Amino acid sequence: AALAAAAARPQALRELDRRREVDGDWFQDPRTVGYVAYTDRFAGTLRGIRTRLDHLSDLGVRYLHLMPLLRPRDGENDGGYAVADYTAVDPRLGTMDDLESLAGALRERGMSLCVDLVLNHTAAEHPWARGWLAGDPRYAGFYTAYPDREMPDAWEATIPDVFPDRAPGSFSWVPGANGGDGGWVWTTFWDYQWDLDWTCPEVFAAMLGTVFTLAGRGVEVLRMDAAPFLGKRLGTNCQNQPEAHDVLQALHALTRIAAPAVVFKAEAIVAPDDLVGYLGAHDRYRPECELAYHNQLMVMVWSSLATRDARLAAHALRRMTPAPPTTAWATYVRCHDDIGWAVSDVDAAAVGWDGPSHRRFLNDFFAGRFPGSFARGALFQEDPDTGDARISGSAAALCGIDDARARHDPAALDAGVRRLLLAHAVVYGWGGIPLLYMGDELALANDTGYRADPERAADNRWMHRPPMDEAAFARRYDPDTVEGRVFGALTGLAAVRAELPALHASAPVEVPVLDDPAVLGWTRRHPRGGRFVGLVNVSDRPASVDAALVTGLDTVLSSDGPVRTEGGRAHLPPLSWAWLAEP
Ligand code: GLC
Ligand code: GLC
Repeated sequence: AALAAAAARPQALRELDRRREVDGDWFQDPRTVGYVAYTDRFAGTLRGIRTRLDHLSDLGVRYLHLMPLLRPRDGENDGGYAVADYTAVDPRLGTMDDLESLAGALRERGMSLCVDLVLNHTAAEHPWARGWLAGDPRYAGFYTAYPDREMPDAWEATIPDVFPDRAPGSFSWVPGANGGDGGWVWTTFWDYQWDLDWTCPEVFAAMLGTVFTLAGRGVEVLRMDAAPFLGKRLGTNCQNQPEAHDVLQALHALTRIAAPAVVFKAEAIVAPDDLVGYLGAHDRYRPECELAYHNQLMVMVWSSLATRDARLAAHALRRMTPAPPTTAWATYVRCHDDIGWAVSDVDAAAVGWDGPSHRRFLNDFFAGRFPGSFARGALFQEDPDTGDARISGSAAALCGIDDARARHDPAALDAGVRRLLLAHAVVYGWGGIPLLYMGDELALANDTGYRADPERAADNRWMHRPPMDEAAFARRYDPDTVEGRVFGALTGLAAVRAELPALHASAPVEVPVLDDPAVLGWTRRHPRGGRFVGLVNVSDRPASVDAALVTGLDTVLSSDGPVRTEGGRAHLPPLSWAWLAEP
């Protein structure tokens, strides 16, 4: 199959494959900035995206992730993550030909298209699921159904719930399963998303076919959705099992043969120790995904802003296993999902905090329930049994911008904008592809529109999935507006980043021990480009670090002009950030 797909690869894509032999590190290159958007919410349709290409160029974008766009089931579809047909585009967005021509137009601009591959589950309405239910032998092993609760109970004893409030458990009763007797079908997510059984070779072959279809249309990055869930082992939490990695490695190896330019990105929102395996760091390096979300960095940025203390972030980030040098993190401030507090108890204890209480604090803080909180998020999927919850809300709302606007408080608004930019300064300066989430370049507020839509009302992740606000968009070049201030700063981060070889993802990042708890610092060094230091002050008071850290470096970009050194200290104003590099 891989050789046939390679033989069928269109000429333009063969040229791309050839180009990638030369610039195969494009996704590690500091000139690469990513942008993530829902096609409809950003630009209506795939064709509409063409009208936004200048906007993307302004932001330095070379990687565009369009959220799930294959044909989903009718009705609720989890934002497109319940696919009913992997060979067709959602007709509301366009056609496969539109996708192919958009991929070509992007390529001409030096932009790579990323598309989701939902591989843990299909919609219950997918033809594979229908065939399986009808007893078609071609789909015999595609899904799992148990006749009674014995096995589901045994599995659920150790599997945490993803959606405890509306979809508790990991199995759903399907009356037509088991030849009509009914059965408990594996449904990790919503009940209409049926988990594929990846121990079945035909599942692997069928999904590989999907990879080749998308690659053949010019998709360059596949976002491997819910990757941790692909392997199931009794007695475990059924995440990050060796089988999940085996599947990704096998898909990767065959894709290299069929479509050498294609790279994988793992969506594995897991504990810090489990993360780097998705980049292939196992007992030895095994090529797996070139990219993986750096959810630890994301969580630590928010944790630091809430506590105004960077010690936990510094500790947790310092001890992480480095990414293999041929891979890159996808760094981000915000995405379309809730924020789950991946704070390890061991890391919390190392700075004298209790893990569970800190996670509870973060939920209270970002839901705006903690006294004095600037955030206006909301709890997502609060679990009545465990008290666990995650957080929804736009980046601007979580940074205090919504609250300041509601209270007409200019000082609070300035602080909110500073937090938003500080967070992006970390993510753009860490190394790897920074993913800018649509709307964050304009500090878009929480959107309450979803509540009026019965298909969305029960899922408050829609509060941070707003439609593009055209009025805010029109203000983006006006530096006297919040939109203009944020947009201008982000274009600056992208432009300066592009010229800093030390931000090439292959360079290791180090997190020095600093004596001021308010400051997070990180350093990078690359053979082609000297030393880089990033510094942020997450508190509302002035902070400082030993000036030796920045000796010989120039401030290349910052919130408050060149970093001032005096009395052996480098000084950082409240909520400020700075990038320094060897001249
Ligand atoms: C991923 C998506 C999330 C979705 C889930 C199930 O985690 O990011 O939005 O609900 O997979 O497909
Ligand atoms: C996936 C993501 C997790 C998210 C969930 C629902 O499991 O990995 O972060 O909470 O989907 O959005």
